[in-house]
Amino acid sequence: MSKIELINIDKFYGDNHVLKNINLVIEDGDFMTLLGPSGCGKTTTLRVIAGLEKPQNGRMLIDGREVINCDDAYYEEPSKRGLNLVFQSYALWPHMTVYKNVAFGLKIKKLPAQEIDERVMNALRLMRIHELCDRYPNELSGGQQQRVAIARAIASNPKLLLLDEPLSNLDAKLRIDMRSELKRLHNEMGTTIIYVTHDQVEALTMSTKIALFKEGSLAQVAPPMELYMNPIDLQAADFIGNPRINFIQATGRLENGRLYVDSDLGSYVFEKEHFTNEPIPEGQFSCVIGLRPEQVIIEEQPSPGAIEAKVYASMPAGSETLVTLVVDKQELLAKQIGLADYHINQTVYLNIDPNKMNIYDEKSTRLIKLAV
Ligand SMILES: Nc1ncnc2c1ncn2[C@@H]1O[C@H](COP(=O)(O)OP(=O)(O)OP(=O)(O)O)[C@@H](O)[C@H]1O
Ligand SMILES: [Mg+2]
Repeated sequence: MSKIELINIDKFYGDNHVLKNINLVIEDGDFMTLLGPSGCGKTTTLRVIAGLEKPQNGRMLIDGREVINCDDAYYEEPSKRGLNLVFQSYALWPHMTVYKNVAFGLKIKKLPAQEIDERVMNALRLMRIHELCDRYPNELSGGQQQRVAIARAIASNPKLLLLDEPLSNLDAKLRIDMRSELKRLHNEMGTTIIYVTHDQVEALTMSTKIALFKEGSLAQVAPPMELYMNPIDLQAADFIGNPRINFIQATGRLENGRLYVDSDLGSYVFEKEHFTNEPIPEGQFSCVIGLRPEQVIIEEQPSPGAIEAKVYASMPAGSETLVTLVVDKQELLAKQIGLADYHINQTVYLNIDPNKMNIYDEKSTRLIKLAV
């Protein structure tokens, strides 16, 4: 087992409040990704979990057992926590071959030679670097060194694997390959993985859960598709999704338990069953519609309910086509699968399912109506 709970964790570097009241539960077997822009506290959170940093406030539990309690000034030494964890680090031993770098930790544990060999070769094969096993680190590219570091981390069969941007030096193709390898590894070994990245595609494609950070706080913790479908506030919506979500200025009004929303796209009514628990302001209020580009369906002929729009620019990219559109004064981005080419200023008709809209209260920035 390796369930980890962070409760009300605060971390300061001098006056810099780096982690602000972090509450996060990592269940046994999770692939939990810490996601957010540079400087938001992802690495610091990982280092607190690894026992490399002491928080100033809060508690940490491993399988329900307290290992940190700042109120009682209780801090169990990381080595005593019984957590078989590996913190991947890029630093390789320069005087050791790739093979020896990966085998080093296993030799210290005094495992039988044959088992060491199997584990090392297995890890190297998984990372597709077994042919490099006799090279020295200075004879490897940055991406190859990174893969050696991951191989070294997985060779020890940890219960908990902590990975900090392990794929950042790889080229685009290799990164996609490694994503699927890591996903399989997680599935096959049942290892709990805590993974740090600022790359949302990496987070969405690999994780069982994503913890989205915002300036040292947690904005939202949810499975990837939930985070994508229903980001909890405007900032989260803006961060998740590539191309970016459309924001459409609108006016809202709550009447007889229904939410009426007017915008340049038209007027919509939403039923209570799809509201979140966020309070909805009284009377008329400013709101924002969030609409993913793939939810804007372009048709060349008018149909009932379709919205007339003008093509601003069409950008075919092979497997998909991005189209910028204008409806009244509202700009919209549409993403279509496959090749299409519309000419500039062409009149087209948009088919939009209002169920797919997220509605945000502009003032609080919080999600008030879910996309379903
Ligand atoms: N040892 C340190 N001493 C002082 N400040 C630090 C230290 N380590 C990190 N910080 C600060 O803490 C904040 C969070 O840093 P952290 O490394 O956790 O960010 P991050 O989310 O991992 O960012 P990145 O994506 O750039 O790696 C930053 O403002 C950083 O400058
Ligand atoms: Mg970092």
